[in-house]
This record gives sequence, C-alpha cells and structure tokens, in this order.
Amino acid sequence: MSRMNRRTFIKGLGAATAMAAAPFSLVEIAWGRQKEESFTFAYISDAHINHIKGTEFTRNFDKGLERAVAEVNFLFPQPDFVVFGGDLAQLGKKEELDHGLELMSKVKAPVKWVIGEHDYYLDLGKYWEETISPLYYSFDHKGVHFVVLNSILTDDQWTHEKWPSPMERMKQMARLDNPQGSPFMVKEEQRKWLARDLEPVDRSTPVVVLSHSPLYQVFKPWNFWTDDAAQVQEILRPFDRVHVFHGHVHQVLYNQIGNISFAAFLATAWPWPYPVSYTQEPNAVPGMTVFMNRADPHSERDGTGYGSIELDDGFAKHYELWENRPRRLRSSKQKGHPVDTNFQAPDSRIPPQRHY
Ligand SMILES: [Fe+2]
Ligand SMILES: [Fe+2]
Repeated sequence: MSRMNRRTFIKGLGAATAMAAAPFSLVEIAWGRQKEESFTFAYISDAHINHIKGTEFTRNFDKGLERAVAEVNFLFPQPDFVVFGGDLAQLGKKEELDHGLELMSKVKAPVKWVIGEHDYYLDLGKYWEETISPLYYSFDHKGVHFVVLNSILTDDQWTHEKWPSPMERMKQMARLDNPQGSPFMVKEEQRKWLARDLEPVDRSTPVVVLSHSPLYQVFKPWNFWTDDAAQVQEILRPFDRVHVFHGHVHQVLYNQIGNISFAAFLATAWPWPYPVSYTQEPNAVPGMTVFMNRADPHSERDGTGYGSIELDDGFAKHYELWENRPRRLRSSKQKGHPVDTNFQAPDSRIPPQRHY
C-alpha cells in the first residue's frame, strides 16, 4: 500500500467509526497518486417511502431517509455527488415519489438516480423519467467512467399482458417471495447501449456500474438475481477493473467475478433476511459474504447501517454492523480477489438469526 493509499485507508476508517450506524454509505476513490484526482461519493438506497393515506406516510421509513440525508449533509468535505440506489417508493405512486423527492431535495450535493422495481412497475418508469432522471445513462467524473443501468426490467409478456391493472402488476413485483414474480433483466436494448457506450472508453479506465439488483445471481425466488447478468459481465470483461454497486438486497453482500467486484449497500428502510434462511431452494450467497446480524424490531434503526468503500489500487469495503464485529474486505494481490481482513470462519460467526 502506498503512503497515499494508506492515508486514504485510515481516513476511511475514521469516517466509518465516527458515523457508525448512520444509514448510508460513503465511497472514497483514490485512483492516482495525485490528491486532486481523489474524490468521494455517498450512497443512499432503498427508502421505500410508503403512502398510507392523505398526507400520511410510514413514519419509520421517512425517518430512515431523513437521517441518511442529514448525515450525508454533515460530511466534510462534502461528497462530489450522492447516488440514490433505487426503491425510493414502495408502490411507485406519485405521492410516494414526490414525498421521497421532497426528503431528498435537502441533500446539498448533486444526486445521481438509479431506479428500483418499486419505482418502476406502476407506470413503467414514466413519472421517474419525466421528473427525476433517465432510466439508464453514463457520465464521467475525475477519470472514472460511471454507468447507471436499469436492471429491473422483465419479459414483455409479464409486463404488458399478464395483469389486469398496473397496480396489480406493481403489487406482484413488490412481494419478496412470490411465485408469480418474474426475474429481473437488463435486456438486449440496454446491453447493446452499454456495449456502444463503453466502446470509446480506454480499457484501463476504471468503470463503476450502478445498478439496483446485483449483476450476478444469488437467489431466484426472491429476485436477488439478474437473469442476463452473465451477458452484462461479458461486456464489462475487457476492462482492467470494474466495480458494481447495488441496492435491492438490503443486506451485506459482496462478491468478485474475474475483473468485477460487487458490493451491496444497506437500505434506509429495513433489512432483508439471507436466502439461506429459506431452505427450500438452493442459494448462491457468495462465500466472501459475512452475514450481518438480524435486526431487532424493537430498535427501529437496527438492520439499516453505515458502510464505506475505498477504491484505490484495489478495493476495500467496510460495513458497520449491529451486535456483530465490523466487516472489512480488501483486495488481495496474491489471491486476485478481495479477502475478509479479519476473517470469521463460518462456524465461529455470530448467527444472523439469533433473535428471531
Ligand atoms: Fe428495496
Ligand atoms: Fe428492489
């Protein structure tokens, strides 16, 4: 580790310690030796703003997003931008998106938006596209090429023909364990766009992909899954280094496939269980993942949390957990993939379902 990178590393740790349990993540990028090339961005995800009636919204979900926004605004120096990782709304309603936007409007830094299935399946992204952001796009920032994908598309027949109403379609897609659901996809049109977008980008340029669902396959019954992930990975394969950051799973999850690292961010709304708790179907939770502990429902901010990522010569992800030791994952040049820096053997881990 160079001196520059070591400083970066320590600074990241300090931020993580100071901000423990705040429901957002901070990404620190220090590609070069020049300090001015380094920058940070923050990441807030899965707010699930839920409309009850009139001006009433689920209070706890509002509070999670409000706290994340406040903590991000306290950061000094400010991040260059904030990524919202999708699922701003619970059922894609205008009331929910508008209320979520109102809470997010307090963010001082510019916001980059990623759409989630809960934002999409009521009107197929129409309101999102009109008022918030394109559904997929790319941008360059200080030597890094960022790509935002809409990874929650699915079959045309399921989307356009199967359901009697848009709200019925939305409710089917909003359920976690739903045999009527349909696997997420990036789909061919967007894959072609991605290939064209990346064509002029030098292979040594770091590429950061922001998607809502993981761009690999963890567990199909809960849609922790992108059906055409392998084809998307193929398009990303020629690059020296690619980092995929995603929401959707509401839990600690990390993986490395060849040149691509994958890291999930926690939700501001609630934590999902791990698929291993559902024994009926095989799962592919990556072996490098050390589970976060399950949440205590009597502590309404438990199960949401704080993390930081540093990208320099390698990759490091730090998760602040609850009733468990913090996790730190860092690239290993010898092994060619990230390793847990204080590895917990599976049989000595604190069980994720200790409470319930
Ligand atoms: Fe979500
Ligand atoms: Fe989602």
